[in-house]
Amino acid sequence: MIHHLRAAGVSLVVDARGPGEPAILHWGRELGDLDAAELDALAQALAPAVPPSSIDTPFRLSLAAGLGTGWSGRPALQLARPGVSAVAQAARSPRFALVDVMRTDDAEAARLVVALRDDDAGIGLDIELELIRQGVLRSRVHVGNGGDDALLVAAAGILLPIPARASELLDFTGLWARERRPLRRPFLHGVHTRESRHGRGGHDNAFLLAAGTPGFAFESGELWAVHAAWSGDTAVWAERSTLGVATLAAGELLAPGEVALAPGERHTGAWTVAVYSDAGLNGVSDRVHPWVRSWASAPPRPRPLTLNTWEAVYFDHSLDALVPLVEAAAETGMERFVLDDGWFHGRRDDRRALGDWIVDESVWPEGLGPIIERVHAAGMQFGLWVEPEMISVDSDLARAHPDWVLGRADAPEWRFQRVLDLSAPGAADHVFDRLDALLRAYDIAYLKWDHNRDLLVAGSHAQTRAFYALLDRLRAAHPGVEIESCASGGARLDLGVLERVARVWPSDTNDPLERQRIHAYTSLLLPPEYLGAHVGAARAHTTGRHADAGFRLGTALFGSAGVEWNIAAATADDRAVVRAWADVYRQWRGLLHSGRVVRIDTADAAIAAHGVVAASGDRALYSIATVGTPADALPPALRLPGLDAERRYAVRPVSLGPAPVTIADAPPAWYHAGVAEQRGRTLETVGLAVPLMAPEQLLLLEAVAL
Ligand code: DGJ
Repeated sequence: MIHHLRAAGVSLVVDARGPGEPAILHWGRELGDLDAAELDALAQALAPAVPPSSIDTPFRLSLAAGLGTGWSGRPALQLARPGVSAVAQAARSPRFALVDVMRTDDAEAARLVVALRDDDAGIGLDIELELIRQGVLRSRVHVGNGGDDALLVAAAGILLPIPARASELLDFTGLWARERRPLRRPFLHGVHTRESRHGRGGHDNAFLLAAGTPGFAFESGELWAVHAAWSGDTAVWAERSTLGVATLAAGELLAPGEVALAPGERHTGAWTVAVYSDAGLNGVSDRVHPWVRSWASAPPRPRPLTLNTWEAVYFDHSLDALVPLVEAAAETGMERFVLDDGWFHGRRDDRRALGDWIVDESVWPEGLGPIIERVHAAGMQFGLWVEPEMISVDSDLARAHPDWVLGRADAPEWRFQRVLDLSAPGAADHVFDRLDALLRAYDIAYLKWDHNRDLLVAGSHAQTRAFYALLDRLRAAHPGVEIESCASGGARLDLGVLERVARVWPSDTNDPLERQRIHAYTSLLLPPEYLGAHVGAARAHTTGRHADAGFRLGTALFGSAGVEWNIAAATADDRAVVRAWADVYRQWRGLLHSGRVVRIDTADAAIAAHGVVAASGDRALYSIATVGTPADALPPALRLPGLDAERRYAVRPVSLGPAPVTIADAPPAWYHAGVAEQRGRTLETVGLAVPLMAPEQLLLLEAVAL
């Protein structure tokens, strides 16, 4: 039968009538209530002609399309049996017969599980499709070896067809401290592919691959996007075929021979998360944020203000050095104090000791108890940095277990460290035991879980599975402990790991100029409450760039905020400004961590503007930042989208200490008066004049319904 799944303005129509593979007839805008006859008519209407020099039957792209079905584009399912026997040939070019379709609809999602079988190849395939209540489409496959010899799995996903009008592509690249830089290109014939072989997402991770109508932007355009919810190697691609078919796919990138199924074994592919939007990129987060927020693993609220010691003291650990920082953290309103790298046995610099997860007695002669007591006495929670998947060659662990080092003995080091092979017998248990012992010995509310190098081995499937298993085991044993995913900054923040953590570290840069972009794009998928955002020193450690307090504070305000700066050594005035900002954060975080994120397409790229609107529509907070030199003498009127069209709002600046530096002789009249009153529709459509700010300044505006 033809199944029509509908949710939140999205329709997915799947032709699963058999006898062959199922095909998506439509994934996109909601089609309304179609009866069976109308769905049949839709299938009829879409049956293509037969072009010259092609297979003799109309080609219809199926979910598992490959050479066996006439698809000579890149298959999302790639299987092999050794040799050239008929069975081996069939396995490389399967053509599945429909066995069964199971549909379940509940409050969470409409689900289809399509069971398929290729008897010639001895392969069973189950395809899961879920159209989640919020309009997100999730899919994955299970491949079963029903043959007599090994079945190699080289790729295990499905192809999602998208319409020809999606003619422009967007994905992301990046570097350490410069993650998620957007890349645009036309979507032409051929395959555009992005592969990650980092064994973690990587700083240059494609993150989200979107195909959309020309010029699609934050607020406008129709687009289809995919993301691989997997924390190891991944491949995402878009292909436009000369057959007039365009596809998107995202999944795990497997190394040759890495997954070999013995007869009777099954392999489950990673989830592909796919999102359709007819409201630009903001429409992607409009679907994904509410879904992520509905997860059982969603972080508890309110999100605490965090003081992290890394850029404050680096490896300079001691009770004497840190007590003033604890006191300054408490004075400025921090709620969690996180002791970063440098606390464990022998870890006096970044060249050694990973794996030796016991407290360094030379630095902490009485253990972590005294610092934790100070932190608790100051009314804060205590958090600790760990990097459990790593091992230093210069460590007791490596000396005891050289066999636990992943990869070739002569493989290059990276940050002077190697990877711990979590699939080696005993290795994951050992790490679990060490972390478990720490969490039992001390009252630790939070672990910052780091991962500071690429694996540099072909095939990270077993390691990634073992990482998930270790995280899951630890979470089950210590359900109250929050975990942050960090990987040299933002090199591992996919939706696979996100299900297991309460926070991510989007980047090692605390430079607000970089963070403005990083937050805008990382938040396409990750709600702001997950994005660790710290106020750093005035001169950013990663870029050397100087930023005023207002720009640093206003940028960090829109995430899971904190401070990473030696505020004990800052001036009393600086601490007072941080204290006032902490109060603003406390006042707004309920809204910021539950509301709708709206990114604003400004006419001048030098102005980055975004806001968060309360679900009730009662209030919103907007940030307007100059991230370059404005093009015009006066900035264009700034639209404030997302408010209730008919309600009237009072718009007022929110102070973060020193006012933003402006370079006009006189401010706009309303700004001078302190308030503008307009209807939501007017604010969205026309907007209001804003002051001409100097580069790298930030203005915060609240809109409150009257
Ligand atoms: C990389 C992280 O991203 C930093 O925040 C910090 O924790 C260092 N590692 C510590 O080694």
